Amino acid sequence: MNTLAKVTQGALVATLSCLPMSLYAGSVEVLHYWTSGGEARAVQVLKDQMEADGHNWVDFVVEGGGGGNAMASLQDRVLRGDPPTAAQIKGLDIQRWARLGFLRNIDGLAEEQGWDGRLPPVVAEAMQYNGNYVAVPVNVHRTNWLWANKQILDNVGVSVPRTWEEFEQTAEQIRQAGYQVIAQGNQDWQHATLFESVALSVGGPEFYQNAFVEHDFGAMKGDTMAAVFERYYRLVDDMNLNNGVSEWNQATARVINGEAAFQFMGDWAKGEFAAENKRPGQDYLCAPVPGTTNQFLFNIDSFAIFELREPSPADLEAQNDLVRNIMDDDFQKTFNQNKGSIPARTDMSMAGFDLCANISMSEFIASANNDALLPSIAHGMATTGTVQGYFYEKIGELTANPESPSDSARALAKAIRYGQYVIK
Ligand code: BGC
Repeated sequence: MNTLAKVTQGALVATLSCLPMSLYAGSVEVLHYWTSGGEARAVQVLKDQMEADGHNWVDFVVEGGGGGNAMASLQDRVLRGDPPTAAQIKGLDIQRWARLGFLRNIDGLAEEQGWDGRLPPVVAEAMQYNGNYVAVPVNVHRTNWLWANKQILDNVGVSVPRTWEEFEQTAEQIRQAGYQVIAQGNQDWQHATLFESVALSVGGPEFYQNAFVEHDFGAMKGDTMAAVFERYYRLVDDMNLNNGVSEWNQATARVINGEAAFQFMGDWAKGEFAAENKRPGQDYLCAPVPGTTNQFLFNIDSFAIFELREPSPADLEAQNDLVRNIMDDDFQKTFNQNKGSIPARTDMSMAGFDLCANISMSEFIASANNDALLPSIAHGMATTGTVQGYFYEKIGELTANPESPSDSARALAKAIRYGQYVIK
């Protein structure tokens, strides 16, 4: 290159670098509902990475644990013809948006990053519609966890219960020592989260599959479901639901602060312990819900990628980078360390992850080989949003006003059946 060309090129670079970044940067608008301490720390990892890549991040936050409110806002935006770049939706809802033609085929990006060889089948399938990738996974959460305040257990002289009999004995000792046994936010989705774990524990994986995935009417209304309610109602008695705690993270805070011994919750709760610098094994303990060792109710967080209306090349590139960054090693590691979940990719090292995450990964793999890796009904992985809504509502009603276990089973079966046929 001659000197003139070099000078001209130098001047061009200098001029371009003086132009405001926004002229060239693309934007991503991302719908999510991650607002608790641990969740916010986790999503910040993605915002920082996108901004480091020169893109603008526009937060589309809709508060509300479990994401019910977020889905209503999303529907509004998409139907107005103005979808966000990506939205935190999962399971069967991904299928629904794809079927309606709103999602983008991202097979090219998946191929570029070799997703097929990196994602376990259960995750890869959840991200696809008709064999094409339309969503990108950020993690795998497990819903059947029990969290415990170690100090309380040590003071009382008990360890984490592994069976329901042990749980009853432990609970009695905790009560006698003057602590609240279970912290639980008084919201339908949280009750539904505990209920599904109890169903897995009491009924076993096959029953769970029949009732909550296949919606077999006999399984839903029969004696096993009645036994599930019986166990569940015993737990409700220990929840003290009138104490004004509604959000799940307020309940986690009660365990963190030593006001209650246990919380049943998915491992997003661990993100709250981590945000308060609490360490597993020292400050708190994690264990599968009694009776569910090597059984795993999965809840995969993912971003569905929307087909944008006439995007600029920069916005399209930003959307591509969002997808690439989410599947990147660094993101999958740091995000999940903050979020409490495990990476969606099983080709990554778990070094640097804590004890609970390592248990989660090994039980994720063991359960897959065991027919005990099952989709969470409370978190949109097992059934449609409509059935999930009726499930929440009925579990919420029965938690507030328990009926006999057998009547409860029948009422739940009817609610699920109704959700299957109602057109919404
Ligand atoms: C989501 C988690 C979230 C939790 C509480 C779950 O449905 O999968 O990512 O932290 O709800 O909002």
